[in-house]
Amino acid sequence: MQKISIIGAGMTGATTALWLAERELADLVLVDVVEGMPQGKGLDMLETMPIIGRDVEIVGSNDYAATGDSDIIIITAGLPRKPGMSRDDLLSANADVVGKAATETLKYSPDAIYVVLTNPLDTMAYLTLKLNKLPRERVIGQAGVLDSARMRAFVAHEAGVSVENIQCYVLGGHGDEMVPLTRHSNVAGIALRDYLPADKLEAIVNRTRKGGGEIVNLLKSGSAYYAPSAAVAQMSEAILKDKHLILPCSAYMQGEYGLNDIFFGVPVMLGRGGMEKIIEYELDADEKVAFAKSAAAVKETHEALKKLVKI
Ligand code: APR
Repeated sequence: MQKISIIGAGMTGATTALWLAERELADLVLVDVVEGMPQGKGLDMLETMPIIGRDVEIVGSNDYAATGDSDIIIITAGLPRKPGMSRDDLLSANADVVGKAATETLKYSPDAIYVVLTNPLDTMAYLTLKLNKLPRERVIGQAGVLDSARMRAFVAHEAGVSVENIQCYVLGGHGDEMVPLTRHSNVAGIALRDYLPADKLEAIVNRTRKGGGEIVNLLKSGSAYYAPSAAVAQMSEAILKDKHLILPCSAYMQGEYGLNDIFFGVPVMLGRGGMEKIIEYELDADEKVAFAKSAAAVKETHEALKKLVKI
């Protein structure tokens, strides 16, 4: 059995474990700083397996040694947003947590592929890559699957069409400047721009951009975790089953889309090698402007990180 370790057994981490167990993909380890909590959640989940008929080992621990020989390390540890906060407001608190999670896990799993969820997402993925000095194939940020799923849900609702018929591509940084591509997104092959009236489409684009904040405001404490964790489960499956599945994810740019030394949301191919390929769309003039604006915002957060941590 392959092995996945999840760092941070809070709402996102624990729910990720449950989605993964349901897929019977790998044995699972949950690690958290809170004493007893990952052990308790792990045991509760282990006792769930006979009911859903899945043969998966699940353990919780406060010790990184438990993560040894993992195929995938998922990092969800850190603070979620509170109402009124941007993802970037989490930078200094979460840089410490993610930095430790990245370096400690690498000691026990030198060959692991990292999937990062903690916000500010693109910059936490950048930190993981730089601190651990990994090839870019082995660090992927989860954001695009989630942002695109939000847009797909809104389009499905508006169009009265199955979510399965709707493909959306939300690229760029995982912040307010993310780029929902209405030309490439489609309903059963028909471009979204041609399928929905302009005012409806604009409302969907705006709601998608603020999708995470909408949930933070409703919850009052904590942020979304069902869709983020389902997204990371889909990415993990694509990697472990070597599916060569193309999904929007945050990847380290080396010249693609004219960008360098930055994690940015783009369509990537996921397989056993991790981030195997970046797909480059042809962008029109408006899309290029939106990409540049989003990249500038991410770059600013990367620069703020470099003032906090020596990387
Ligand atoms: N090592 C391990 N776990 C830690 C550490 C640490 N140094 N510091 C905090 N944690 C744990 C907390 O104890 C908590 O259980 O991380 C967990 C985070 O869980 P939640 O507070 O429930 O937050 P969650 O909603 O899961 O979000 C976590 O993912 O989507 C992002 O923006 C979100 O950055 C946030 C992260």
